Amino acid sequence: MARHTSFQVGGPAEAFVTPATVSDLSMLISGLNAREIPYRILGGGTNLIVRDNGIPGVVIRLQQCCRGISIESSNSAQTALTAMSGENLQKLCVFAMRRGFQGLNFALGIPGTVGGAIRMNAGTALGWISDVLESVVVLDPSGRMNTIPRADLRVAYRSMAFPDTCNAPGNVIISGRFVLKAGDACAVKSEARKILQQRRHRQPTTLPSAGCIFKNPPTGKTAGELIDLAGLKGYKVGGAETSLKHANFIVNTGRATASDILMIMAQVRRIVYEKFQVSLEPEVIIEGE
Ligand code: EPU
Repeated sequence: MARHTSFQVGGPAEAFVTPATVSDLSMLISGLNAREIPYRILGGGTNLIVRDNGIPGVVIRLQQCCRGISIESSNSAQTALTAMSGENLQKLCVFAMRRGFQGLNFALGIPGTVGGAIRMNAGTALGWISDVLESVVVLDPSGRMNTIPRADLRVAYRSMAFPDTCNAPGNVIISGRFVLKAGDACAVKSEARKILQQRRHRQPTTLPSAGCIFKNPPTGKTAGELIDLAGLKGYKVGGAETSLKHANFIVNTGRATASDILMIMAQVRRIVYEKFQVSLEPEVIIEGE
């Protein structure tokens, strides 16, 4: 999985499948369900730590079967777009930005796929995916496609839950429909340049990482501030270290293992708790044995 995660660490999946079409995907998940074989959907692998011993069961990659961005409807006020879940989130942002559609610039520079961004309700201080999402199409293991309107999604900081009827863990996000406001293409582009510059200035963008490691606590100082104030910038274990640029990032300086990263996370949590009595919760998903 080191080849499929932005951290570039992690042991193998028991099986790794890239279905060619949505109908192949549908057959695959109904077969796996019928045989009670565990599976998980891989987005861009950009918010994921796979442990060094790998993942049991089947990992399914959607980048081939769920591709494409299309304009569904457009008028002088707004445009509705459908983006397939395996599509790159940056491609969607650039698609919108070039046409002067407003509302997705906040996501510029967030790595990963559209499906991953929906599942995690990706966001920054400038906005969240849930702000522009109108509905989500989900495939269930019986092969049924369900369209879930925005009003039925329970959105929160870094999470998006579906109604109970569509919330089975085996369900797969196929696409999202986004509604964006009409804007001036030059203004949208110049805002985009500023957002990307700020990101490069504040965050380590050249070394492998999984973005912010911990969620920001609901009140008080951010995770980055707490880790920084605890004196933990540049804290190293093996080939991993907390970034000198942004304390809430762990970067892989070349030969890190998942254990190195998990060890840093445990130490950071312990030291921040001892100093500030704040319990940091991981934002990244940790998988494997
Ligand atoms: N700060 C420090 N030391 C650091 C890093 C930050 O003191 O090492 C301080 C900054 O000076 C600032 C405050 O912490 O006063 C907040 O920093 P920043 O603006 O970088 O925002 P953040 O809360 O650390 C959040 C998201 C990021 C998102 C940025 C920009 C979380 C956990 N993080 O970071 O999301 O890109 O805002 O909007 O919500 C991610 O989810 O992977 C991610 C990177």
